Amino acid sequence: MKRLGILCDGGDAPGINAVIRAISRSAFERGHEVFGFIDGFEGLIRNDVKIVTKQTVSGILQEGGSIIGISRLNPFNDPKHLEMIKENFKRNSLTLLILIGDRDTVAIAKKLSDEGVPSIVIPKTIDNDVYGTDFTIGFDTAVSTISGALDSLHATASTHHRLMIVETMGRETGWLALFGGLAGGADYIVIPEIPYSIKEIASHIEKRKKEGKNFSIIIVAEGTKLSEDLEKNIEKDEFGHPISGKRMVGYYFATELEKLTNIKARTTVLGYTQRGGVPTTTDRLLAIRLGIAAVEYASKGLFNGVVGIKGSDVVFTPLEESAGKIHTASNDYLALAKIFF
Ligand code: F6P
Repeated sequence: MKRLGILCDGGDAPGINAVIRAISRSAFERGHEVFGFIDGFEGLIRNDVKIVTKQTVSGILQEGGSIIGISRLNPFNDPKHLEMIKENFKRNSLTLLILIGDRDTVAIAKKLSDEGVPSIVIPKTIDNDVYGTDFTIGFDTAVSTISGALDSLHATASTHHRLMIVETMGRETGWLALFGGLAGGADYIVIPEIPYSIKEIASHIEKRKKEGKNFSIIIVAEGTKLSEDLEKNIEKDEFGHPISGKRMVGYYFATELEKLTNIKARTTVLGYTQRGGVPTTTDRLLAIRLGIAAVEYASKGLFNGVVGIKGSDVVFTPLEESAGKIHTASNDYLALAKIFF
């Protein structure tokens, strides 16, 4: 019998509850116990923990958010926290931690493993930027939200003959804007992985106009680099990341493209709507596969890695291989974008 501690770390994403349910049901099948730490590392530090039962995880498969909360706390920002984590790990006689998290979580897990606290990371983030998996839990649902938003925006953009600039989340990668833009029929996609020129986008818009299209929808990832002076003094979070939306990337492109094309431009920042919603079946199935695989690895005593999906296979990537790396939009998908723009 093993005692599995679970917690959620980083930004929330649709599918977290599906993975909590999969971990728990698989653990119970094997005679293991599950301890849920409330609000991520905050709960582990405070020892705010609840024993998970079959009833706890009943009826949550389709729920967004996290039944055990989440937080974006860097436990290594305070030396006392590591000792408290070690103490509470022992106090609950845990075998390992299963961390439902993102790239920052992988880095934390690596440091914890170096301090003798074993863990397995299940990659959950709408950004899809965790090294060690083709897709992360939450990404597919966020793409559906973005593509649905573009469907809605087509009507108003074409009726008013406007440029509609849509800013997506994604922190440092363009997966959300790329997949959401392709699925939603954006007329141009701007992402950190592809160098852009405002003038080139403007001439693409002009070309569309000559073809009788008097509107355009331009999707822009929030992490798209702007000029040096615009990057100064942006408010940052506990991990040094710019706070989402503060870089005003969508408004920058609207202002510049309106100047160059003389077409009225409006901006829609999708923001935190991309983090909500009922998880798609794709995200639910990914959550189930990765949750069960994490318990299988834990049962075999295989720790300190990221459980992921590569093609149709579940894979295990050691923490030291994933930590510090980023999964950027891959060339095959970038090539798709270039066909359309
Ligand atoms: O979880 C990923 C993400 O949604 C990024 O796309 C975004 O930049 C960031 O989290 C926002 O972080 P917070 O929820 O802490 O504002």
